[in-house]
Amino acid sequence: MRSITFGIVGIVAVAAALLLASRLVIFPAFGDPDAILVPIIQTSVVDSLSGGLPLRAYTERCGLTVGAAVDIEALRNDSLYQATLAREFDMLTPENAMKFRELSPELGQYDFSDADLLVDFARSHDMQVRGHTLVWHQGLPRWLQTGDFTPAALESILLRHIHTLVGRYQGQITLWDVVNEAVDFDGEFRDTLWMRAMGKDYIEIAFWAAHQADPDARLFYSDYDNEALNAKSDAIYNLMKDLLARGVPVDGVAFHLHVGLNDTPNWSDVQRNIQRLQDLGLEVQITEMDVRIQDGNLPLMEKLAQQSTIYGTAATICLQSAACTSFSIWGFTDRYTWIPNQTGNPDFPLLFDVNYQPKPAYTSVRDALRACCTLDGGARCSN
Ligand code: XIL
Repeated sequence: MRSITFGIVGIVAVAAALLLASRLVIFPAFGDPDAILVPIIQTSVVDSLSGGLPLRAYTERCGLTVGAAVDIEALRNDSLYQATLAREFDMLTPENAMKFRELSPELGQYDFSDADLLVDFARSHDMQVRGHTLVWHQGLPRWLQTGDFTPAALESILLRHIHTLVGRYQGQITLWDVVNEAVDFDGEFRDTLWMRAMGKDYIEIAFWAAHQADPDARLFYSDYDNEALNAKSDAIYNLMKDLLARGVPVDGVAFHLHVGLNDTPNWSDVQRNIQRLQDLGLEVQITEMDVRIQDGNLPLMEKLAQQSTIYGTAATICLQSAACTSFSIWGFTDRYTWIPNQTGNPDFPLLFDVNYQPKPAYTSVRDALRACCTLDGGARCSN
């Protein structure tokens, strides 16, 4: 009986693998003249893979938001993009539309049209917006990078920028990444335009300014490779402790979680890090997750399976802690992702394929959400 059962299971597994493999098609991606293998999972397969509710159907019960970064041109032009985004997610992050360079390419001028488009879309689909990002060393306008400003002038530019942006969306954007990527791997403060002008005080200056502009907004410090335990996350922990001790209005720490199949953090250390931040009374959010699959020579289906496991693990870890209040990814469809530009190689790091069909990674995240009431002793479940 046992061997018959295993036999049947084996046949079904092989048939499923063959079915999946046969659905892979050759597709020229990202303008690459060489056709490359793109994982496209067709609807019939998706039906059996997914048979469940959209991700956002679980978020209220699980007590967190599930978000995606938004490519503004896709939001403007691509109706399938809009439909999938609205169906699956309840939080949006502007991938670029609220960066200083996009908003203010000329000194003294602001153009809010892209940012408004995103905020309007979120409002009409009952989604929150993660404001991203007020202070960063990248994404700066040319006039700011090349201008010969005194430290006092830079401080007033920073204050005015924060007041302008946070003030405009007061009450509409409930949560901001106030300072992004201010700490280096060695735990020292990163050498930036802001640091050179104001020393590390620019960090608290920024938090106070954001708080003044919208006292109800929740304010985050945001960084990458700060998920596990290392010199960088120790420094960020100490920074948060110091800010809180002095009454600076900071509410949480964002973990980007840009990872690859062979480049994942030690998950137990991530749990320990979340715990120590929670012990300070802070929220934690996963805010920019993507999982690169370009490295290594495994068959594509194996890579997609590993990618799926990594997504599922991260979502589960977030759901295991009441402090973790958002699970957000940096995009959602492999059609629009920053990774190929960033690495110079094609990649498929997100939950949906280029045709908006859910990948195995999607199913893992959804399964984690489905199980949220069994995690954290059920503490995070409202019903
Ligand atoms: C990236 C965008 O995805 C790219 O389109 C842009 O060219 C550069 O910025 N950490 C962050 C994000 O906080 O704002 C970055 O977004 C990715 C790394």
